[in-house]
Amino acid sequence: GSKRGSLVFEWKTTFKNVVVLTGAGISAESGVATFRDNGGLWAEHRIEDVATPDAFAMNPVLVQDFYNKRRAQLKEVEPNAGHRALTRLQQELDGNVTIITQNVDDLHERSGSHDIIHMHGELRKVRCRACATVHQWQEDCFQETACPTCGRQVVLRPHIVWFGEMPFYMDLITQKLQVCDLFISVGTSGNVYPAAGFVTHVQQVGHAHTIEINLESSEGVSYFAEARHGRAGDLLPALIDEILSVKVA
Ligand code: APR
Repeated sequence: GSKRGSLVFEWKTTFKNVVVLTGAGISAESGVATFRDNGGLWAEHRIEDVATPDAFAMNPVLVQDFYNKRRAQLKEVEPNAGHRALTRLQQELDGNVTIITQNVDDLHERSGSHDIIHMHGELRKVRCRACATVHQWQEDCFQETACPTCGRQVVLRPHIVWFGEMPFYMDLITQKLQVCDLFISVGTSGNVYPAAGFVTHVQQVGHAHTIEINLESSEGVSYFAEARHGRAGDLLPALIDEILSVKVA
């Protein structure tokens, strides 16, 4: 609508199932390295050396070290304005906002968000390769500790989805996409599937409005109804203000 009031009226009444897909770009302003920007993680490490099941089988210490470093960094970073804007959106649209994140950091949680689906796993969790139970990571839990559930030794691995492995929660994600009426993609390059295909999925099954927020055009920018390019820490709060602008004429 043209008037801001009618815009709020449209946003609040129109969108009942908001899905926000986030990628490394939303955590960049917190100081967490992205993957494919210059200086990103894949510029420093070869994916096949640290982020595949074979890498872990061949060189578990190198892989554990890679994740230990990223996990240790979590203590030094804080959520940024982009994370906080999504938390505000969730609070204001009471429960109608799901965050599907490709990120394995805990910044969405620490900014007070809920309904978060970690499709690529979480740095703070480990999984037993014998009984598949998931546990909170503790200091040097990879070497000595036995699995708290099945008791076997040296079986814990990072609870991270590696290349060649299936993302988690795909059934739940598909349910959310089937009814999605507003899809916002934030800080992802659109290089990795299935996440990169969510924007076309929501348009095939319904009439979702789709917005890309990214520093620059992603691989999938042409699939979005609108694209806003710049820093998530600036653009997300502005978008959420627009959605929630208090003046209802
Ligand atoms: N604000 C908004 N976008 C940003 C910012 C910022 N401050 N800084 C960087 N970006 C954008 C970059 O332009 C880039 O398009 O964030 C995107 C990050 O892209 P990638 O580094 O490819 O990260 P992501 O898309 O999350 O990677 C997807 O690939 O390596 C696997 O499993 C890993 O989850 C990861 C997946």
